Amino acid sequence: MKKINKVLIPIAGYGSRMFPETLGVVKAMLPLVDKPVILYLIEEALLAGMNEIIIVMSKSQESVKDYLTLKDEALFTKFKDKAEVKYLKELLAKVKFDFIIQTEQKGLGDAINCGKEIIKDEDFGVILGDNPILAHSGEAFGIGQLYNEYQKNPGYYIGVKEVPMEDTKKYGIVSGKDYHLTSFELDGMVEKPQNNPPTNCAALGRYILQSSIFDYLAKTEAGVGGEIQITDAIKKAIGKEKVYGTKLIGNCHDTGSRNGFVIANLDYAMERNDVKDQLLSFIENDYKL
Ligand code: G1P
Repeated sequence: MKKINKVLIPIAGYGSRMFPETLGVVKAMLPLVDKPVILYLIEEALLAGMNEIIIVMSKSQESVKDYLTLKDEALFTKFKDKAEVKYLKELLAKVKFDFIIQTEQKGLGDAINCGKEIIKDEDFGVILGDNPILAHSGEAFGIGQLYNEYQKNPGYYIGVKEVPMEDTKKYGIVSGKDYHLTSFELDGMVEKPQNNPPTNCAALGRYILQSSIFDYLAKTEAGVGGEIQITDAIKKAIGKEKVYGTKLIGNCHDTGSRNGFVIANLDYAMERNDVKDQLLSFIENDYKL
């Protein structure tokens, strides 16, 4: 059984669906209650035992590197006894970070390709920077859920979930004859089909990829939106590699969109004993739900 240590988290996108906020703040640094999205993603990677994290960012996002490397020493010294500071230091001490600049924002496929020199011939995970997952069951979720499948049967794994048919045009959509099962082999994948989606199983921000993906990416031309799409590279792998879809458990959020961001905040707030009661009583009193 191969151990996967590396996870790539691409965050360079403009976050244009969250303007004007993301004209000044990196999308992955938006808070869910009081913690930036990226910390939830890092926690998820660590839970899966993957502690080498490759952040692919744009050159204007150095603030993320400063945050994750605790650059403001004076601040961390001044508040060293605060529980939140201890939490952050302890969490980040468990990670070996690499920060890579994606010079042009040419799509998710290009962002993943930026990790090639560090990843070399290893299999690796990918967690999209605006797709936190909140699972209530205590089971492995997100990249850990895919990794459990990979350990039983190595291959490419795409985390998917069924979405309403009318939403399929927003996602990478997978197909496979057993697509109604929890885990199934893919026979196709298409990026944001504008009509005739093959299924309603959408890729929702988690991938385990084998290093052969870099060969397929090298042959992948710009696709939807003029961008290099990871979906198109995975499509090339289908038939040559073992490529599976796994239905993700938990609530898969999209913090890159307005409604998704607000809903995610509500979901994460309801998890918090120090926030939940006041929030519920406000909703009950003011909205008479
Ligand atoms: C990207 C991927 C798409 C996937 C989606 C999940 O699209 O290209 O296949 O379904 O993330 O969030 P984006 O939302 O960046 O346009």
